[in-house]
Amino acid sequence: MNITVIGAGYVGLVTGACFAELGNHVTCVDVNEHKIANLKKGILPIYEPGLEPMVISNMNEGRLRFVTSLTEIEGDPQVIFIAVGTPSDKDGSADIKYVLEAARNIGGYINDYCVVVDKSTVPVGMADEVQVVIQNELKKRGLSIKFDVVSNPEFLREGAAIEDFMRPDRIIIGLESNNAKSIMLDLYLPILRSPERIYFMNVKDAEMTKYAANAMLATRISFMNEISMLCERMGVDIENVRIGIGSDSRIGSAFLNPGCGYGGSCFPKDVRALVKMAERNAVEPMILNAVERRNLEQKQVLPDKVTQVFGEDLAGVTLGVWGLSFKPGTDDMREASSLVLIEDAIRRGARVQAYDPAAMPVAREIMPEEWFDSGKLKLTDHQYDALKDADALVLVTEWKPFCYPDIAAMKNMMRQHVIFDGRNQYDPKHIRAAGFEYYGIGRGSVPERSVIRRKEAVDAA
Ligand SMILES: NC(=O)c1ccc[n+]([C@@H]2O[C@H](COP(=O)([O-])OP(=O)(O)OC[C@H]3O[C@@H](n4cnc5c(N)ncnc54)[C@H](O)[C@@H]3O)[C@@H](O)[C@H]2O)c1
Repeated sequence: MNITVIGAGYVGLVTGACFAELGNHVTCVDVNEHKIANLKKGILPIYEPGLEPMVISNMNEGRLRFVTSLTEIEGDPQVIFIAVGTPSDKDGSADIKYVLEAARNIGGYINDYCVVVDKSTVPVGMADEVQVVIQNELKKRGLSIKFDVVSNPEFLREGAAIEDFMRPDRIIIGLESNNAKSIMLDLYLPILRSPERIYFMNVKDAEMTKYAANAMLATRISFMNEISMLCERMGVDIENVRIGIGSDSRIGSAFLNPGCGYGGSCFPKDVRALVKMAERNAVEPMILNAVERRNLEQKQVLPDKVTQVFGEDLAGVTLGVWGLSFKPGTDDMREASSLVLIEDAIRRGARVQAYDPAAMPVAREIMPEEWFDSGKLKLTDHQYDALKDADALVLVTEWKPFCYPDIAAMKNMMRQHVIFDGRNQYDPKHIRAAGFEYYGIGRGSVPERSVIRRKEAVDAA
């Protein structure tokens, strides 16, 4: 099939590369000229396991091309995916301007029947708007070309995007036309092989399914974070509770991990957008508001624990931070908990030494230059370099190399032996037995308030 993908970000690039890998001819269009120039040279704008070799081999086979404008596309595409960003607008609703711009471009370009597929996460009713915008552009050109607009929300997880795309649990497709249905089946059957896991529904149902799915997953995380706060104060270990409830088949174990808050490009913005949709439709979003509020509070949990141990004034304190991306397996730092922690620590006078296996180039770009110039923030070449003369390790992202740390080496290189475990990766007994103070999330104890004593001890040393 001849496929066009508009937007070459996390979703567009994975979609384009995977469909090319399946033998289709794919052109990815992105307005970011720098991104496209690099992609043409085989340089990817993002870190995603397995994506780079897939992009390069499909480019070499002539199945995958990158361009900056629809006018550069060869031949008429049968399917055009819209995979541009839908970030939060100022009021929290989804900013749909990139989707509308993509629709205008499509209307100004197509010459034959095609299926336009909304893969971006868009508010309910967006497909109708896309339909109108394309129709208007065609009218301006004096053309009457048939096309269908389909909703096909994406459920891939960054860090496992190729696996998720090639072996999805299910595929959701919202459409109203039989013609579009047969094209979408042709497109996806090579991936799923059995049509039972392709769920066809109305367009608006599919659009809402995406928001409801993300909001449900975010709700489970916020729920566990709330229970973890209670556990902490009542001498209960949330990790046992997590295993206990996760083994209940009515509940299941996915997305029950408590931590220092969820981030990324999807959960926060999609929960906020759903709140706005509810408000505009006179439904009070009581649960959604609580999910969002709990998450904002949760991002303060690590700064608060640091305060309880080291005090409000962090001058003279060095924090070693492991993990900057919002989750392992990606370099995406959008709404990452590390941003809240680092900003708070530096504002209160701490020095931060941070390491991340993939996100350090992104951190270099988005964090204030002044922090680097003044030595307040240092990105280290190795995970253990972040701990040299550090007063504490703060684990923010549970990358695999952080899971089994060399405790003996850490003991030698750190000035004080304190671990704040923002993802409950470590066994508190094990860590404490090695002579470290351990503070996890909801592990049955709150930090001692031995603040001033501790700092005086450091000053005296
Ligand atoms: N990132 C994820 O894990 C994920 C998962 C599921 C769904 N989604 C949804 O998919 C959509 C895309 O997300 P993303 O993370 O890939 O975004 P992204 O910001 O990584 O990429 C979007 C790309 O679109 C390009 N773009 C913007 N306007 C354009 C236009 N008119 N023509 C061509 N290119 C244009 C931008 O330059 C950018 O490269 C969002 O709606 C998001 O909510 C994302």
